[in-house]
Amino acid sequence: MDALPIILDCDPGHDDALAMILAAKNPALKLLGITTVSGNGGISKVTLNARRIATLANIDVPIAEGAGKSILGAFEEANDIHGESALDGAELPEPKIELSLLHAVDLIAKLIRESDKSVTLIATGPLTNIALFLKMHPGLKPKISEIVFMGGSASRGNRTPYAEFNIWMDPEAAEVVLQSGLPLTMCGLDVTHQALVTPDIFNELDKMNSKLSKIIIGLLKFFAKTYDEVFEMPDPPLHDPVAVALLIDRTVVKTRMVNVEVELSGTLTRGATVVDLHNRLGRSANCNVALELDRSKFWNLMLTAIRSC
Ligand code: BDR
Ligand code: CA
Repeated sequence: MDALPIILDCDPGHDDALAMILAAKNPALKLLGITTVSGNGGISKVTLNARRIATLANIDVPIAEGAGKSILGAFEEANDIHGESALDGAELPEPKIELSLLHAVDLIAKLIRESDKSVTLIATGPLTNIALFLKMHPGLKPKISEIVFMGGSASRGNRTPYAEFNIWMDPEAAEVVLQSGLPLTMCGLDVTHQALVTPDIFNELDKMNSKLSKIIIGLLKFFAKTYDEVFEMPDPPLHDPVAVALLIDRTVVKTRMVNVEVELSGTLTRGATVVDLHNRLGRSANCNVALELDRSKFWNLMLTAIRSC
C-alpha cells in the first residue's frame, strides 16, 4: 500500500519529539513537513526543539514556524511539565536543519497543493495553525483527507480540572476545527493516559543502547519527574505519538463517532471538550473519538521507530 501523506503540526515538547520520530520513521507514512505552534514553550523554543530533534533523528523534511499566540492573542508556557526549554532532560545537538522561510500556514498550503494525493494533518499542539490554515485556504479543504489531533478529553482535563492543555491554549481554534465539516479524529486524554511510559519501556530503551535511546531516556525521565510532581503519575502518558500511531494502524485505538463541542465561555470550564457519548444533546456527530488503546501495538510501533533511527 502507498504511504499516507501527512503533515505534523507540533509544539515539542517531550511527547511531540517522539511523535516526530514515529511520523518520520514508519514506512506507512510519508511525512511531507513539520510545522510548529506555540504551546509547551514559546514559538522560538519549540521551533528550535523541532529542528534539534530532526537533526538528532535524521528527519529531513521542511520545518516552518507558525503561530506564537492563540487566535485571541493569548499565550502561557508549560514549564511545569516540559521545563524551561520546553524539552528539558537531555543535551540536544545544535540544529543542522534550516528553518523554512515560509510561515507554517503557507508551508501547509504549499505541501498540500504540491501533493498528488490528499493529505492528512496531524496536530499535537494547540490548533491555532490548523484553524488559520482552514480559514485562509478554504479552497484546499477538499485535499485534506482527515485531521487527527491530540487534545481534549471525554472526562476530566489536565490544564484545568476539565480542559486538556492543547484545547485550553486555543479553544477558538479548536472550535474552527470541530466545525470544519472535515473527517476528524480526536485523540484525547481518555486514550493517551493508556500510553504510559512504564518501567518495561525504559528497559527496552536501555537495551537499545544508542545515542538516540540514551537521549530519549533522559527526556522521558524528566517528563516522568514532572508528571509525578504535578499529577502524581510516576509513569507519564506519552500523549502525542498516539495520534500518529492510529494512522499507521487503525486497530491501535477503538473510536466512537459522536458530537464534540468545545466550551468557549464556561467560567471554570473554558477549553473543555464536551463529548456527547450518549447523544444527549441530539446534535450531529462530527468527530471520531479515540477511547481505547491497544497498548502493546502502540509501543511496538513507537519502539520500532526509535530503533530504526
Ligand atoms: C498535550 O499537552 C502537551 O503538554 C503535550 O505535548 C500534549 O500535546 C497533553 O495534554
Ligand atoms: Ca504537544
